[in-house]
Amino acid sequence: MSPSVIMETHDKVGLIRINRPEAFNALNDEVMDGIGSALAGFEADEAIGCIVLTGNDKAFAAGADIAAIKDFGYMDTYKADFITRNWERIKTCRKPIIAAVAGYALGGGCEIAMMCDMIFAAENAKFGQPEIKLGTLPGAGGTQRLPRAIGKAKAMDLCLTGRMMDAVEAERCGLVARIFPTDRLIEETLAAAQTIASYSQPVVMMIKEAVNRAFETSLTEGLLFERRSFHASFALEDQKEGMTAFIEKRKPVFKNR
Ligand code: CAA
Repeated sequence: MSPSVIMETHDKVGLIRINRPEAFNALNDEVMDGIGSALAGFEADEAIGCIVLTGNDKAFAAGADIAAIKDFGYMDTYKADFITRNWERIKTCRKPIIAAVAGYALGGGCEIAMMCDMIFAAENAKFGQPEIKLGTLPGAGGTQRLPRAIGKAKAMDLCLTGRMMDAVEAERCGLVARIFPTDRLIEETLAAAQTIASYSQPVVMMIKEAVNRAFETSLTEGLLFERRSFHASFALEDQKEGMTAFIEKRKPVFKNR
């Protein structure tokens, strides 16, 4: 049996492919544990500066594996700390993660894409929170991250009707950063990820932390966090190198320190 999660290294970028094509990449424990250990591997690898999470041309992921969870009782989910135990590993990764979404990103699939730092979509991408059709509700952040990303009106529309949204609508309402032709999605996403990975890793991490802070705090506190991080960046060798290289009209050589 082929592994349900595949890890590839492309220069300074770590690529994680969800690989359950027979079930539209439905997310079971094996997949989520696999994503978690791939993330841990790439985080520990100093050569990796950015991570891409993807599926295949037909599905990023069609949500939690319904067959695996349909007979769960409350105590099963509670004791196993379902979702929190392994899905939230994506959220704690300190390196940036781009979700490259082609095909379906439904339910938990849409939710893990939203746990990433940005979403690049193929023209054939379809996003939705169809849990309501199954007699349940989004359980991996859909009711919380979707309104923050696209506003209350559209989040309510998607969660309450269970309808799907295409890539154009998803970009228009702010869920998706960029759209590419389906056969160019991975190439273009890897190129953007290489650009990010070519910068100073501590600066990249500080920016990710600061942007995420915008969703957790007041504007005044967020600005203070940003200002202090900005001040701290002047302690980096990479800041000296970046600004010196600009003055000397050459490419900077960052040392990630
Ligand atoms: N879990 C388990 N199996 C799934 C699956 C899922 N989420 N999605 C698709 N599959 C399986 C189907 O059971 C089917 O398997 P068999 O070939 O063995 O019958 C196979 O993938 C192909 O699926 P379809 O025959 O349904 O293909 P389709 O082209 O007609 O439709 C689809 C594709 C629109 C993705 C449809 O399969 C679908 O609606 N899937 C379910 C989407 C969903 O409801 N996701 C939410 C899950 S709950 C959740 O995620 C909770 C949470 O918030 C964490």
